[in-house]
Amino acid sequence: MKNRRTFLKTACKPIVLAAFGIPLLEACSSEETPYTPPSGSQNQNISSDPITIDIASSLFVNLQAVGGWINYTEKNLLLIRISETEVRAFDNSCPHQGNRDRWSFDGSNFECGYHNNTFTTSCSGSLTCYSTSLDGTILTITF
Ligand code: FES
Repeated sequence: MKNRRTFLKTACKPIVLAAFGIPLLEACSSEETPYTPPSGSQNQNISSDPITIDIASSLFVNLQAVGGWINYTEKNLLLIRISETEVRAFDNSCPHQGNRDRWSFDGSNFECGYHNNTFTTSCSGSLTCYSTSLDGTILTITF
């Protein structure tokens, strides 16, 4: 009797209903599992060597003004100009499910277009942040 009572209290609703012959299509999970990349798979476009970028080149023209950003898909990086002296670099893998290609920026946060989760531009947020230095127009990203 105790086992039956424990089962009814702990089993998810669809399983209990199915046990009584009442089929119901519903997922048992009540929350989504955050994306965890397979070990060693994080940002395979990047070696451990630093990347040097001249942000004066036409590809990076958006980084010349504070608030400008780009999704540098060739290297799987989100780059954002924080101030006259700082550009931040983040892995462009969404912390939710790992998608990389539907980013937008609202002036404060990045938003992933797959499920509309938003992420701060702080290096203490959910996006993986890399060390950067800006010397004139030369941006160096260290991993
Ligand atoms: S993959 Fe779901 S919000 Fe980015």
